[in-house]
Amino acid sequence: MTFIKNGILSFMSTVKILVTGACGQIGTELVTALPNKYGLNNVVATDIHDRCQMRIDGPCYTLDVLNSEALDWMVETLGITQIYDLAAVLSASGEKQPLQSWDLNMKGLLNVLEAARKYKLDKVFWPSSIAVFGPDSPKASCPQNALTDPTTIYGISKVAGATPALTRACISLIRVLARRLDLCVPRY
Ligand SMILES: NC(=O)c1ccc[n+]([C@@H]2O[C@H](COP(=O)([O-])OP(=O)(O)OC[C@H]3O[C@@H](n4cnc5c(N)ncnc54)[C@H](O)[C@@H]3O)[C@@H](O)[C@H]2O)c1
Repeated sequence: MTFIKNGILSFMSTVKILVTGACGQIGTELVTALPNKYGLNNVVATDIHDRCQMRIDGPCYTLDVLNSEALDWMVETLGITQIYDLAAVLSASGEKQPLQSWDLNMKGLLNVLEAARKYKLDKVFWPSSIAVFGPDSPKASCPQNALTDPTTIYGISKVAGATPALTRACISLIRVLARRLDLCVPRY
């Protein structure tokens, strides 16, 4: 399929999504749901663990988001247009290994933002968390712009990562959606 952009005839670039941390709780749901909308071959599941291969029908690769060269290579080679960055160390595990948690949650995000800048991606999705709130945050009907006073390294990294200044400093023109997920999914 072709289309005209800036007066130039181009091949239609379909949405091509790369999901990091795709073997996790949110990722496994997403890589099942997204292909219904974008097609099986347009959703690329990646995770540091190769157990993904057993669980996911579409394309699946081993990728450590801390390895920026590998991430860049994959984005460029596969023609990725959007990234859902789900690779993270969550609360309980994060507190046991705070430095690794900070590194993954922040450097992983920065690598993704940098790849988005370099390869001019359309969108980056990065989930925030209720962990950004703490003892002084409102207990009921907590608004999106409520005081954030996280008490965990996980929550602190989510506050830092969602700072508009950080995304502005890293990239422009690219839509970064840092959504705070209003859910608490039970872990099995
Ligand atoms: N689960 C929830 O209820 C919830 C709520 C709010 C926000 N979130 C956010 O959603 C995202 C995903 O959460 P989840 O519950 O699926 O987490 P999870 O712990 O189930 O999955 C995280 C995945 O990241 C992978 N990973 C770890 N290190 C990696 C690395 N270096 N490179 C690539 N992948 C790596 C892990 O193998 C794992 O599969 C996180 O950013 C989390 O903060 C989750």
